[in-house]
Amino acid sequence: MKDNTSLKLDKIVGDAEDFLPILGTDYVEFYVSNAKQIAHYFQSAWGFQPVAYKGLETGSKDQVSYVLQQDKIRFVLTSPLQEGGEINRHIDKHGDGVKVMALWVDDAKKSWEETTKRGAKSFLEPETIEDDHGTVVRSGIHTYGETVHIFIERKNYKGAFLPGFQEWNPTYRPKPAGLKYIDHTVGNVDWGQMNKWIEFYRDVLGFGQIISFDDKDISTEYSALMSKVMANGNGRIKFPINEPAEGKRKSQIEEYIEFYNGAGVQHLALATDDIIKTVRELQSRGVEFLTIPTTYYDDLIERVGPIDEDVESLKELGILVDVDDEGYLLQLFTKPLGVRPTIFIEIIQRKGAKSFGKGTFKALFEAIEREQALRGTL
Ligand code: FE2
Repeated sequence: MKDNTSLKLDKIVGDAEDFLPILGTDYVEFYVSNAKQIAHYFQSAWGFQPVAYKGLETGSKDQVSYVLQQDKIRFVLTSPLQEGGEINRHIDKHGDGVKVMALWVDDAKKSWEETTKRGAKSFLEPETIEDDHGTVVRSGIHTYGETVHIFIERKNYKGAFLPGFQEWNPTYRPKPAGLKYIDHTVGNVDWGQMNKWIEFYRDVLGFGQIISFDDKDISTEYSALMSKVMANGNGRIKFPINEPAEGKRKSQIEEYIEFYNGAGVQHLALATDDIIKTVRELQSRGVEFLTIPTTYYDDLIERVGPIDEDVESLKELGILVDVDDEGYLLQLFTKPLGVRPTIFIEIIQRKGAKSFGKGTFKALFEAIEREQALRGTL
């Protein structure tokens, strides 16, 4: 059994303050080269449902956005329609990636005032936007890299998504894959930058730290990283932050930083209540996951103790298991979503465990390193 005494999962270290009550994640917006085709990918392969659209037909002359949703997970895919704009520059530099982690709040103006007062750099001053369905107040601040948080106050809005969007209601609707909500969103930052961003979430957003790894915990022969996790007061928002650590060869975090050209969102973890069913569905629709050596399963039960799931099914699908003081979790990771080795998605099912898979990182790293070796970037 591995030693979990270092985990203090029930205790938020530091005080998640109440000056910034966050109700949940509102949406995640990706800047992508072809939103129409990527929307089709998230519909067809992932079972996201069409929600809203803006583009030339709605009077948006310079950008197009598709909004998709699966239970509480809402993705916005945005592409430029003209040359030379900010979105174009973002895609040129970073490839397809997450631009906005939008936070659902009761008071977007106060959220901006409180965070900018505490040192956040403003991205968007509070503004009220409206259409026939009501009003939305929004504001925004910068976080790591070129990523931003937008605060969304939508209590007086009844429309499909935001003013400016129209309902998107195609007949093509592949069924959902059982994904429920965003469990956590991980950022990669450059060498020596992790603590700066941990302090940002503590001091500027009032988050608390819930767990920390050291590099000995999560290293392989080649790769290493350091990671700390920040959470808001109600625990609905969890942001692990990684930085590279010294290894024999190039860390996966360094590879990300190199191809993303800086800090950014490394992965989104999407929760399901039935990981075997969800992953079987996703695999059958062509979602590509990292594969784990089957030897991982030989002594699984000895390592993690009794679990409800059938080990043969986990082995068939490559699902990893980790355990902590409060239970266990099941998870696995896709290959990078786009052409660059940057953002990917994790599927997670929690069975009591509140940690993030420290015990699976080694198996995961080794899987990633096999992919890095194929790319010649190890
Ligand atoms: Fe994760």
